[in-house]
Amino acid sequence: MKKLNIYLLFLISTQFIFSQVRTVKELATNWKFQKGENITAYQTNFDDSKWETVTVPHDWAIYGPFDKEIDKQHVAIVQNGEQVASEKTGRTGALPHIGTAWYRNTFTLPQYEKGKKVMLLFEGAMSEPKVYLNGKKVGEWAYGYSYFYFDISEDIKEGENTLAVQLSNKEFASRWYPGAGLYRKVSVIVKNKTSINQWGTTITTPIINKEMAKVNIKTNVSGENIHLLTTILNAEGEEVASQKTNTKFGDEFVQNIKVNTPNRWSPKNPYLYTAKTQLYEDDILKDEVLTRFGIREIKYEADKGFSLNGEITKFKGVCLHHDLGPLGTAVNKAALRRQLTILKDMGCNAIRSSHNMPSLEQLELCDEMGFLFLAESFDEWAVPKVKNGYNRFFNEYAEKDIINLVKATKNHPSIVMWSSGNEVPDQWGTAGVKRAKWLQDIFHREDPTRPVTVGMDQVKATIESGFGALLDVPGLNYRVHLYEEAYEKFPQGFILGSETASTVSSRGIYKFPVVQENMKQYDDFQSSSYDLEACSWSNVPDEDFVLQDDKPWVIGEFVWTGFDYLGEPTPYDKSWPSRSSYFGINDLAGLPKDRYYLYRSRWNTTDETLHILPHWNWEGREGETTPVFVYTNYNKAELFVNGKSMGIQEKNTATPQNRYRLMWMDVKYEPGTLKVVALNNEGKPVAEKEVKTAGKPYKIVLSPDRKTIKADGKDLSYVTVSVVDKNGIECPTAINQLKFKVSGSGIYRAACNGDATSLELFHLPTMKLFSGKLVVTVQSKTELGDIHLKVTGKGLKSATVELNTVN
Ligand code: GAL
Repeated sequence: MKKLNIYLLFLISTQFIFSQVRTVKELATNWKFQKGENITAYQTNFDDSKWETVTVPHDWAIYGPFDKEIDKQHVAIVQNGEQVASEKTGRTGALPHIGTAWYRNTFTLPQYEKGKKVMLLFEGAMSEPKVYLNGKKVGEWAYGYSYFYFDISEDIKEGENTLAVQLSNKEFASRWYPGAGLYRKVSVIVKNKTSINQWGTTITTPIINKEMAKVNIKTNVSGENIHLLTTILNAEGEEVASQKTNTKFGDEFVQNIKVNTPNRWSPKNPYLYTAKTQLYEDDILKDEVLTRFGIREIKYEADKGFSLNGEITKFKGVCLHHDLGPLGTAVNKAALRRQLTILKDMGCNAIRSSHNMPSLEQLELCDEMGFLFLAESFDEWAVPKVKNGYNRFFNEYAEKDIINLVKATKNHPSIVMWSSGNEVPDQWGTAGVKRAKWLQDIFHREDPTRPVTVGMDQVKATIESGFGALLDVPGLNYRVHLYEEAYEKFPQGFILGSETASTVSSRGIYKFPVVQENMKQYDDFQSSSYDLEACSWSNVPDEDFVLQDDKPWVIGEFVWTGFDYLGEPTPYDKSWPSRSSYFGINDLAGLPKDRYYLYRSRWNTTDETLHILPHWNWEGREGETTPVFVYTNYNKAELFVNGKSMGIQEKNTATPQNRYRLMWMDVKYEPGTLKVVALNNEGKPVAEKEVKTAGKPYKIVLSPDRKTIKADGKDLSYVTVSVVDKNGIECPTAINQLKFKVSGSGIYRAACNGDATSLELFHLPTMKLFSGKLVVTVQSKTELGDIHLKVTGKGLKSATVELNTVN
């Protein structure tokens, strides 16, 4: 019960009032929105009654339509090794995100009275926001991924206030779908003049042992004749320590508080404390802030690598772009939680926010669920990758953007490393070396406790120039053949696989003959799920595994990527239609591809993995060679086709694939049952799995990831839709067109089938199955009650699932 209380208190503190001294009002509803330039929309008396009403977070471009002409780029992608320019479609998702738009919100602040301090906080605005309050410009920013705030104390009024935000997205500004709009939270903070400054609490844990931890808390404040009382609460909400401090150094209180027998944070034990800081002026409470933190120790040491709480820990990580597939970039905590739940089951322990600032929601979840986090800032410095990219802002904004990144997120125990850049072309030349040093120094100044990396693809150049040597953590993107040399020539004594694999595949699609090949393309614009296809610059997963397993100085990897994302449809960026990536371990709908089980078989060390591919519906391929792969944590297994043994395969060191997969290359297809029996080292059967040939699609089957969701108007249930034949066997090649209807206390939010070539719109209640599956996302309303999702399809037995909502 106590636990619940503190959790509630925290929730309240980030959304609404939690005490009289400070209010945080999220501006989420009743926004007016319109696309297009409008020179008077900043004015208070502007008539926006005809504009669309939206809620924020909002992504204006996700509703499409897809169009190959949008942001069509005639470029040579130099970092992909291209020398001749060609026409690229779908690079930024082919969704209408280019142009200007306005958001307006009229709000009142009942807690406001003259003399109060008021901050307007944006957690991201895509992009180049210009912000007006009551007709006057109060500030602007540039980078769409930054958190930023303005002090609006002078411009706010009692009664009604009108906020107007102009956003503009240029063409040729991104290498992926950036989204568009106020896609993260906007809030107004009302507090006293005497108060704790924005992001003013900094908590570190410089000394930790079994008996005690020293918790260092720096609190940046405004006011005189003040003192600070800090109380530390454990995860149950019980007070474990407190300290009152009268002495201020400049604007800062510094406290060192002892916590006995600390419960240390780690991915396995994501234990969180909360610091309650209360600021008093002449014994009157003036401000109060709650900050969650973890007690944990991180170290990076030559030849040992990364250790967490004294335990050597390898990063079993994935890179993630910020879009949430069919929801676009509008941040949603339930969608993020689902992603992390899927990744956790895979055994993943780390996330890299490529190539920009993560949402605060994602960091909160990583703290709670136990993920290590590599927080990245930029994909570009001063030298462009794309014409209108961050290079336009670098000189003016880079320092400000890093300061805000660090200040806003530094108390998250999940963050264990910063990244100042990804494959920046500034890797070439002395100016780039200086920039790398300058950026790293800013990170160090703002946060002396965490190291800084850069994802480097120009490994030879960075060895020569000293660029790689100066970094705290040398990160290599791909280039498995250069790890050894980099380790020898760089002084740090370890290498991070900051980006690995970039293997491509389409869920449920298999191509014959089964051969390993880079940049392989097929007429249907899909990639094979035998997991042997990568890019000219990248590799298949097994090649990374060899390095991870054999070289103790390789401190882990971040696979490109955990989920497919909108844009960058390599190897089909010159083909249309193709509008989303093939790199994901999971597809755009969040459904696992076969590769999921390959990673799971080595990363999840507690649960059994035994997965067969391909599916066994190959009408017309009877008698033809149809290799069978098994991804498993067991070392050997026997395969049977309709009861006939295909022999025993055992993992061996002949090739990287032989080490991590069991492969029967000569199986001839015949319909029926494919069965694998896993064997222990004594040759005894320990587990088995079957895949059967399915008949005609007969019936729709629905399986929600969560049956009970919160009635908060935001929570989501993801319902996987598949079809089975008369015997209940899943039909892996079904492509039926389905229709969705949601009634009761929820709404239909989106559907996605994971097909990178589909131009069907996510928000319309109909979609085709892809490889026999799709996922429907149902969102709660703010009222309690049941939700019904009905799915129908021509010639198929329909299905209904009932969900319910709670407070
Ligand atoms: C990397 C890059 C990523 C993505 C990936 C695709 O070079 O850092 O953003 O483009 O390649 O393989």
